[in-house]
Amino acid sequence: MEEKGFTVWFTGLSGSGKTTASQLVAAELRRRGRKVEVLDGDVIRTNLSKGLGFSKEDRDINIRRIGFVCHLLSRNGVVAIGAAISPYREIRDENRKLIGDFVEVFCKCPLDVLMERDAKGLYKKALAGEIKNFTGVSDPYEEPASPEVICCTDRETPEESAGKVIAKLEGMGYLAPPGTEGVYSEEEEEKVRKRLEALGYM
Ligand code: ADX
Repeated sequence: MEEKGFTVWFTGLSGSGKTTASQLVAAELRRRGRKVEVLDGDVIRTNLSKGLGFSKEDRDINIRRIGFVCHLLSRNGVVAIGAAISPYREIRDENRKLIGDFVEVFCKCPLDVLMERDAKGLYKKALAGEIKNFTGVSDPYEEPASPEVICCTDRETPEESAGKVIAKLEGMGYLAPPGTEGVYSEEEEEKVRKRLEALGYM
């Protein structure tokens, strides 16, 4: 039987660890034999959403596009992983409604820590006014009201964050619980037994 597809949706400020955590989750899911596609905002903006800017209208289009592709993938048994700031709750919830099997992961990190880290140097530019409408500095970010997972990326290692997501997916029944990987269900075992019997092995 084909396993059920679903979407894991990472949301959070720029530099909050969405890409890192999503890649680790993707790797673990592939290790477990799942087909996975990661849709990362930074990458999607170079192709599917090329030409879009950072106005509310453009961000909404970007997030709806990513959500739509996640929808197409999920309904075909793939695990789709979205990783974009997705600052507006309403649009994230729209995607949740469209997709149904939707697991929201909030990468939570205090702004001062992000400004301190500033891996891409963007916060410095935003604070200097060189980048307008920068999320968290001069543009809104609406935290999720009830995300399935909160990763406190200032206090957890990326592996810990990814582990929380995997554990949640197991808890929700999207992944087989730990220790049962590669183990046959009773139904499958019965089938194998019958087949071996028919072949004269048992
Ligand atoms: S979203 O708001 O539409 O979800 P998305 O995740 O695709 O954003 O892209 C965010 C990335 O674009 C950031 O990580 C950063 O590298 C870059 N970026 C450039 N300008 C901005 C801006 N004004 N606000 C936020 N991110 C920006």
